[in-house]
Amino acid sequence: MNPLLLCFSYITLTLFSNFRPISGAAITFINKCDYTVWPGILANAGTSQLDSTGFELPKSGSRSFQAPPNWSGRFWGRTGCTFDPNTSQGTCLTADCGSNQIECNGLNAIPPATLAEFTIGSGATQDYYDVSLVDGYNLPMIVEPSGGSGNCLATGCVADINGQCPNELRVGSGDACKSACEAFGNPEYCCSGAYGSPDTCKPSIYSEMFKSACPRSYSYAYDDATSTFTCSGADYTITFCPPSTSQKRDTSPPTTGWTNGSGSTGSGEEPTGFNTPPSWLPDFLAGDSIRVLSCSVLTSTFIASAISIMLFI
Ligand SMILES: *[C@@H]1O[C@H](CO)[C@@H](O)[C@H](O)[C@H]1NC(C)=O
Ligand SMILES: *[C@@H]1O[C@H](CO)[C@@H](O)[C@H](O)[C@H]1NC(C)=O
Ligand SMILES: *[C@@H]1O[C@H](CO)[C@@H](O)[C@H](O)[C@H]1NC(C)=O
Repeated sequence: MNPLLLCFSYITLTLFSNFRPISGAAITFINKCDYTVWPGILANAGTSQLDSTGFELPKSGSRSFQAPPNWSGRFWGRTGCTFDPNTSQGTCLTADCGSNQIECNGLNAIPPATLAEFTIGSGATQDYYDVSLVDGYNLPMIVEPSGGSGNCLATGCVADINGQCPNELRVGSGDACKSACEAFGNPEYCCSGAYGSPDTCKPSIYSEMFKSACPRSYSYAYDDATSTFTCSGADYTITFCPPSTSQKRDTSPPTTGWTNGSGSTGSGEEPTGFNTPPSWLPDFLAGDSIRVLSCSVLTSTFIASAISIMLFI
């Protein structure tokens, strides 16, 4: 591709991501699992439902939704669903919502379910998002912000916890992995009763298992400090089964999928939030820092000229 054209698209991208009016967030689902996933969407009380509350997302498929300002709710992925083609009725093996239909119609995921939780900001407030294993785990899922300002880190769980789930938490033949709260119901695991505060509810050997597999996800109810993320004016991609560049099964914290804010796992050149640049980014953004630099200079020049032109009109 022509370098000038690349620079121009970089400038457009920069302008677009910096000066986009805040109007809620686009949420895009991508299915990188080698099986179909049926996402479920639940809007919290007091916010509107999105265009769907449940749908089929084939392998390699994607679908986007627009969440309005102040929207809050959760997303999850149902697996192993079968719906009768004649009656449209059916159930899912994991994270079913009990609606007996492809749409969840305001019903919540039945645990265990990996959950992505969002509160979208408005002009004055930032977005909050997290991936939670507090209700257990059923499939790998990450959330990646794009085009926002602030910390804007990717979060989620790349690891296959089903493969390392202890027997006492395992569902079926490793279809999903329960939380200790769901499996045993003790107040100390559920952070309820006498354990209903951050001071009294501590990590357990079980929540620590989830945390070490997925360091950025909620592993128990008061895991906020390392599990809640913020960003302003971003759009979000939710990817089921994100690829892990380390080929072995994750038993240690993932080495891919994101940087951790200090850029220690990346080259330090790429935008915060991910290690593997999305394929739509021009190659030079992913590697060639000299051209990025000259493009940045060009961009600044471009913006400066635009400002001077506006001042003189
Ligand atoms: C979002 O919520 C804030 C605080 O409650 C409110 O001031 C604002 O008007 C809301 N924005 C929209 C677009 O509903
Ligand atoms: C759906 O309806 C057709 C036509 O009535 C029937 O032949 C078929 O067996 C039905 N399929 C199922 C899964 O019930
Ligand atoms: C990022 O990773 C480095 C090296 O593993 C660690 O020292 C640092 O504390 C981490 N930073 C955050 C914000 O997690």
